[in-house]
Amino acid sequence: MIYQSAHEMILDDVFLDLSDFISGVNLLLKLEGFNPAGSIKMKAAVGLLDDAEDRGLLRPGGHVIESSSGNLGIALSSVCAARGYRFTCVVDPNTSAHSIALMRAYGAQVVSVDQRDGNGGFLQSRIDYIHRRLAEDPALVWPNQYANPANPRAHYERTAAAIVKQGLDIDYLFVGAGTTGTLMGCVAYFRDNSPRTKVIAVDTVGSVTFGNPPARRYIPGLGTSRRPEIFDPEQIEHLVMVPEAEAVRMCRRLAAERGIAAGGSTGTVLAAVERRSAEIPSGARVVAIAPDLGDRYLSTIYDDTWVRERFGADATAPDSAGAAQRPRPRVPAQSCR
Ligand SMILES: Cc1ncc(COP(=O)(O)O)c(C=O)c1O
Repeated sequence: MIYQSAHEMILDDVFLDLSDFISGVNLLLKLEGFNPAGSIKMKAAVGLLDDAEDRGLLRPGGHVIESSSGNLGIALSSVCAARGYRFTCVVDPNTSAHSIALMRAYGAQVVSVDQRDGNGGFLQSRIDYIHRRLAEDPALVWPNQYANPANPRAHYERTAAAIVKQGLDIDYLFVGAGTTGTLMGCVAYFRDNSPRTKVIAVDTVGSVTFGNPPARRYIPGLGTSRRPEIFDPEQIEHLVMVPEAEAVRMCRRLAAERGIAAGGSTGTVLAAVERRSAEIPSGARVVAIAPDLGDRYLSTIYDDTWVRERFGADATAPDSAGAAQRPRPRVPAQSCR
């Protein structure tokens, strides 16, 4: 298959059968890490830039600025390079050196904001920085992934539609919440096209999105220190909050037992499935979205010293306690087709 540009190579039909990875749960993991730029955020990046172009905000040679903890920044860097735009990405100290190096490889300018906001995170500080830059240079184009309906629309039209297109009879869909673009897009699509599916929102302890108290967080991707404008709490019926240490253990267990190193938000979503597993009826079909792979986290989640210093020695051991504590009848793996 020949593509005209890297960002067209979206792989929306890749699922890994994780039956019984969590005892008794008939689980499929939708892998987004094989998309160009390595994550689910390629779909948001294309949607946001298409929207800015369609609205006449972005013209040839234009300059885009965006706040990102990593993956959207990498994806926007790639699309901006291919479409001939300048790009400035505003990151924070939680963004990995690897992610920053990738953005720079695509020609982006990277600015790191290290002032914590009132909730102990960096999101408001990053956005304040963008407002200052926009005041200085009104020609800058800020797609604003936190407020732009083009973000959830990309997941309505692509991520969620691709899951339903598989023809699986899905009982539960577990989706992590960062900007909530993926979550809000999936909630809307499943409400319109598969209302029997329960969409379970997953967030990190310490995130304020769902009205919980702020606390320090280390893993980029999920969670916010400021509620995103695109988030509508009225649409959410089910929520699981996961401590970061549990997410780390889950990532390590997935790598050790199934040979796939996933990113931190995938560990969070899998830990949420485990937390809910006792309520999931035997034979129910569960899908979870894995936004990226583990390569970006080798010096954090997969580094023993980094993990021990933040979460204690227990977190370095792959998490198998959950499965052992909840014995359930084994469900035979089912065909996905
Ligand atoms: C690794 C990872 N997981 C999850 C998310 C959350 O996705 P969304 O912003 O659509 O809520 C992001 C967003 O950047 C991410 O990079």
